[in-house]
Amino acid sequence: MTSRDATEVPPGHGAGTPEEEDYSPILPGRGASDYERYLRTDELLSLQKTPEEMAHRDELLFQTVHQSSELWLKLAWFEVETATGLLRERELAAAIRLLRRANEAMRTIIGLLDMLEQMSPWEYTRSIRPVLGHGSGFDSPGWNGVRRVSPDLGAAFHELRREAGLSVVELYQRGREHEELYQLAECLTEWDERATLWRVRHFKVVERIIGGEVVGTQGTPVELLGGLIHRRFYPELWDARNELTELAKKEE
Ligand code: HEM
Repeated sequence: MTSRDATEVPPGHGAGTPEEEDYSPILPGRGASDYERYLRTDELLSLQKTPEEMAHRDELLFQTVHQSSELWLKLAWFEVETATGLLRERELAAAIRLLRRANEAMRTIIGLLDMLEQMSPWEYTRSIRPVLGHGSGFDSPGWNGVRRVSPDLGAAFHELRREAGLSVVELYQRGREHEELYQLAECLTEWDERATLWRVRHFKVVERIIGGEVVGTQGTPVELLGGLIHRRFYPELWDARNELTELAKKEE
């Protein structure tokens, strides 16, 4: 291992010959450096209102949480869609790898919601809500992507399970013999659970900021959001737990 003196200048920052030090941008696009060009920071950072355009300074917080949630949701459903394709090709381990990633993306957006509770309910409803037009989370491309790809993932899983000649209950009873299928079932359970956890967390944010007995920007009663918490992508995976408990009782 080579050690570097703390006072030594790192390569590319004045240490080498002029030829070695040409780190000027080589990528196409806007921006003074390749960092800015690759990440398209000019465009990215102009996607939020400027202070002059803001109805309230907390719009930056509000837009940041929403826009970053959309990015994570885009990644999440993209991974699930690819994982579904891999399952159809019987590449279980590769699919599981991507599903774990999708589940982590979902965990990330659940955490992001904490930030919105930094807003004052009065300032939000008085200043920010009026500038949202008819904007509603029901039109979220990211969440709608999640809702679109999830049933196909379930179908691909059940096809593999049926091929192995197993009911969901049997898969759980003999999980050690069918390690990958078992891991897959758990990934789907996790995905379903995290979608519910996001809905629960979002519902509490809504209750905390605008109240639980009001109507949303498209006229939907907030109570209806509370009802959506009980939706499940894969009810069979949850029902199997009840059956397993009953079966275990019978064996006592
Ligand atoms: C102050 C924060 C927030 C408030 C007050 C709020 C309010 C609401 C309300 C009232 C609804 C019901 C539909 C409607 O009438 O618009 C809704 C739905 C929704 N919102 Fe939010 N929201 C907030 C933050 C967020 C964030 C950060 C996201 C991130 C993407 C989000 C995504 C959604 C989605 C996906 C739905 C549909 C939910 C479902 O299908 O279960 N919301 N929101």
